[in-house]
Amino acid sequence: MRVFLIGYMGCGKSTIGRKLATLMGSAFIDLDKYIEERNFKTVPAIFAEEGEAGFRAKEQSALLEVAQFDNIVVGTGGGAPCFFDNMEVMKHAGITIYIAPSVETLANRLMKSKTERPLIIGKSRDELLQFIEKALVIRAPFYEQAQIIIRGKEDLNPEEVLDEIIKQS
Ligand code: S3P
Repeated sequence: MRVFLIGYMGCGKSTIGRKLATLMGSAFIDLDKYIEERNFKTVPAIFAEEGEAGFRAKEQSALLEVAQFDNIVVGTGGGAPCFFDNMEVMKHAGITIYIAPSVETLANRLMKSKTERPLIIGKSRDELLQFIEKALVIRAPFYEQAQIIIRGKEDLNPEEVLDEIIKQS
């Protein structure tokens, strides 16, 4: 089985993805880390040297590769479902799950996070709230194509996600 976790930056794809993978006896792949290892460059370095377009091209190739692995849970980057036919690729390869906490939760988590994220660098909490709201207008139509949508949960546990997967399969 292949599970793809999608959603905005800070929604908890990696945290819940790791726990879900352990529960399912699958490997967890963080797509951003996979891109970094494949290209010997960090995500911020790719953005700085090749721009967002360069990053999106690498992201697409990485996704096409991991979509062929078996027994995996993939935590995708927040933009991955919204470029090229990436959402179609994921839907055909496995189960897609959109994790959608409130915009406030996303902004709070991103304020605390130590991960360097080129798209939101240096933003205040208020700027972030506005930025996320605007971004979701564009991104939600992609995210909402997911087979499973989990909304408004602050502390999602892997058992709940697994229950949803079992209901769908
Ligand atoms: C991005 C999200 C990031 C990373 C890149 C771009 C986005 O991943 O792929 O900085 O466009 O939302 P996370 O969602 O894991 O932070």
